[in-house]
Amino acid sequence: MKQWDQSLQANYGSPTLELVSGKGAVVTDIKGNEYLDFLAGIATNVLGHAHPAVVKAVTKQISTLGHVSNFYAHPNVMALAAKLISMTEDKNARVFFCNSGAEANEAALKLSRKTGRTRIVATKDSFHGRTMGALSLTGQPGKRDPFKPLIKGITHVPYGDMGAMLKKVSKKTAMVIVEPIMGEAGVIVPPHGYLQALRELCDETGALLVFDCVQTGMGRTGDWFGYEYSGIKPDVITLAKGLGGGLPLGAMIALGDAANLFQPGDHGSTFGGNPVTTAAALAVIETIENKSLLERVSAAGVELMAELALIDGVKSVRGAGFLIGIEFSEPIAKIVAAQCQKSGVLVNGNSETVIRIAPPLIVTDREIARFIKIFAESVDKVRSK
Ligand SMILES: Cc1ncc(COP(=O)(O)O)c(C=O)c1O
Repeated sequence: MKQWDQSLQANYGSPTLELVSGKGAVVTDIKGNEYLDFLAGIATNVLGHAHPAVVKAVTKQISTLGHVSNFYAHPNVMALAAKLISMTEDKNARVFFCNSGAEANEAALKLSRKTGRTRIVATKDSFHGRTMGALSLTGQPGKRDPFKPLIKGITHVPYGDMGAMLKKVSKKTAMVIVEPIMGEAGVIVPPHGYLQALRELCDETGALLVFDCVQTGMGRTGDWFGYEYSGIKPDVITLAKGLGGGLPLGAMIALGDAANLFQPGDHGSTFGGNPVTTAAALAVIETIENKSLLERVSAAGVELMAELALIDGVKSVRGAGFLIGIEFSEPIAKIVAAQCQKSGVLVNGNSETVIRIAPPLIVTDREIARFIKIFAESVDKVRSK
């Protein structure tokens, strides 16, 4: 896209679509073509586009008081923190607000330094963001290598491999960070019992257990954060993406004793926890609750995965709720994603063999049926070429 290429840095590559409006699960491009948005701003627009509850909350707030900084309290900020604390089911939890997933993980990294320890264990192929601290946690060499030297003392072990964790986590470890389901790596679900075993290991060694719920959070997997099915709690939860329903908002929630590690002056953010973004988040949470979207996502996700698994050429379907990876037997994922776009559906070719979908939680049964039809036709078209 010429104008993009001439004015924006080359870090993203050149987009093939220019989107100008959206309603629910549908977006419209500058030429008036409509697309069923099964990527939702990369797992972000949990209520879809222009949801009336978000529009109303944001409009009211921006026309009342837009920004105050963290020198001053604001009712939305305190209400949202209280709501998130109640969702953790730990009344001792405390929240730090920021603007993105990378910043939430930066905050977790800094929090872990306050334990007096510096070693960290993260996982290979994980994604925790692009700023230098978050990139140091990220386990993808292609993204890390051009920016070395990164933060020292961070070891990456294979995801889901408890044996490897046991070898690396010790009483010198400040924190262990994992995604409850790896999103960017291609929607990788850990083996049964992994999160629980990590909890035990962190209890034994005193390392903080950090769950990066940036992608799994805010109802996407059918739970609020994405780890609840395991029955355990981490020491730290990081959130962003769905939290602001499309507005830039991140959070680092520390539970239990970890909640007391930060002291005045330890960390900060000018925009973090802004009245407008927190108004959006409160509207998002209230809508998810009022419309019973967690239950809906759990049930519809199971059905959607079962339907996708029946499509010829699909090797496996994995994930939870509306965070789904579709793996092909052949390296056709990117071509299928391009074909879907031509046919009016937006998905993400995660790798050569995996397509990721993350539709908004409000997507209707009819839209899901339409998606399955177009997706199956697109796979068929690509495979029969
Ligand atoms: C699990 C996870 N953590 C962190 C991030 C970084 O979030 P952001 O792009 O908002 O910095 C992402 C983004 O994809 C993510 O999926």
